[in-house]
Amino acid sequence: MRWRRGSTKAAESERDERTAERLDALGERELAELVRSQPVPAHVAIIMDGNGRWATQRGYPRIAGHREGVKTARKIVRAADAVGVRYLTLYAFSTENWTRPEDEVSMLMTLLEHTVQSELPELMERNVRLRVIGRTDGVPSGVRRGIAKVVDGTRANTGMQLMMAFNYGGRDELLDAFRRLAVEVRDGRLEPEAISEKDVSRALYTADIPDPDLLIRTSGEMRLSNFLLWQIAYTELWITRDLWPDFDGRALYRAIADFQGRTRRFGGV
Ligand code: IPE
Ligand code: IPE
Ligand code: MG
Repeated sequence: MRWRRGSTKAAESERDERTAERLDALGERELAELVRSQPVPAHVAIIMDGNGRWATQRGYPRIAGHREGVKTARKIVRAADAVGVRYLTLYAFSTENWTRPEDEVSMLMTLLEHTVQSELPELMERNVRLRVIGRTDGVPSGVRRGIAKVVDGTRANTGMQLMMAFNYGGRDELLDAFRRLAVEVRDGRLEPEAISEKDVSRALYTADIPDPDLLIRTSGEMRLSNFLLWQIAYTELWITRDLWPDFDGRALYRAIADFQGRTRRFGGV
């Protein structure tokens, strides 16, 4: 009966609205507690966007927004770790970001390298393992070495895995995967007909990392910007208008709480 289904739907959305209002009224502590009382998404991926706008709105140079964004990233690592997120992927620099003015790019490189290096003691203390996904070619060798030191230093850590997507592009990642598989086919180690989703997954930079459960994008843009194209096939999305420097632990928990209230159907009923 049509009208009945319709009224059920209306009741549902009213309930959703009430839930959203209730969650919006909670503080960071209460939200953290609530989030911890339910299964926490194992993998949260974040497109950290809006640093430039944050700075421009205040009359600062864009790099000031990036500096502020680093502080947010630090807070989010702590907040994610505190509720037991196992994998956190942060999109720090895309393959398309090279098209930005040279001074912004070079300042970003230096900022990222310095930040990663200065975080080593805290990463060790938290038992967090840092990994980088993305292409290494094109990255200045000093920056590459600086970051590699922290990746090596945290390699044995068994707590949260922090993936920094750096010089990362989803299409490049897929190209690299296809090339690896093509080599296996050429060498007779893989039959073309036998190539499976598992084979593609294992050829990606994220080979041993589960697909993200939740993808967050700040600054309100409704796009993926070449992020984790294969991995997010069934990822739940959360887009907030907050600019990245204004995002915080509370905002992360708010997103996770919403995620926890959803039904993931994966194409089923
Ligand atoms: C995100 O902030 C950080 C990077 C892409 C490195 P943006 O720099 O893209 O900020 P907006 O989008 O210009 O505000
Ligand atoms: C996506 O943000 C890349 C990162 C957050 C590193 P952009 O600001 O580069 O994306 P577009 O240009 O708005 O798509
Ligand atoms: Mg942007």
